[in-house]
Amino acid sequence: MKRPNSLSAFLVFHLLIIFLFHSSVANADALQEACKSAASSGTEVTYEFCLQFLGENPQGQSASLENLFTFSLDQLASNATNIVNSVIPKLLSNETLRSAQKCLETTCSDVFKGVPSDLAGARRYFKEKDYRNAIPYVSAITTDSDTCEDCFRDDLKRESPLAREDDIFHKMASISLATVTSLL
Ligand SMILES: *[C@@H]1O[C@H](CO)[C@@H](O)[C@H](O)[C@H]1NC(C)=O
Ligand SMILES: *[C@@H]1O[C@H](CO)[C@@H](O)[C@H](O)[C@H]1NC(C)=O
Repeated sequence: MKRPNSLSAFLVFHLLIIFLFHSSVANADALQEACKSAASSGTEVTYEFCLQFLGENPQGQSASLENLFTFSLDQLASNATNIVNSVIPKLLSNETLRSAQKCLETTCSDVFKGVPSDLAGARRYFKEKDYRNAIPYVSAITTDSDTCEDCFRDDLKRESPLAREDDIFHKMASISLATVTSLL
């Protein structure tokens, strides 16, 4: 009687190992799939930047594409909040950046304040697994940092004091877009 039991326990154990191995391989693939797609999306996002960004998700290597997408949305939300609540006010208090004030106060503040509403749209469709309709919301977010940069370049004809933040934000949004596109 003992033997068949331990044999089946042995089998179950092995099947479990095989299952866990396969699911972790499948999920490490999610990170690679999202980043390959991001790196070939025609933006400046490199595969390494993407791996570094999405690799910081709380599930790590076992994250699914869905996990990676929600992580990217969370990061975009906190980035936009930081830019509005801390980065822009700090730049506005800097006397030497007087000539940048107009874009900081209007265009850039406005676009980043609008991010939560686009994120809400993306989350709503994502929750319904309607990835196709989530895409336009994420796509709109990718243009926000461009609108801010264009203000400095075209209207004020000066260097952007938000160049670094806008660049990172744009890359993060492009990765988010590539990730939701991979879910289709
Ligand atoms: C935006 O997020 C990126 C990645 O997490 C981080 O490196 C960067 O400092 C953040 N920027 C702001 C303004 O929060
Ligand atoms: C003000 O802006 C200038 C130009 O970008 C920069 O060099 C300087 O460090 C800033 N000062 C403060 C207090 O942040």
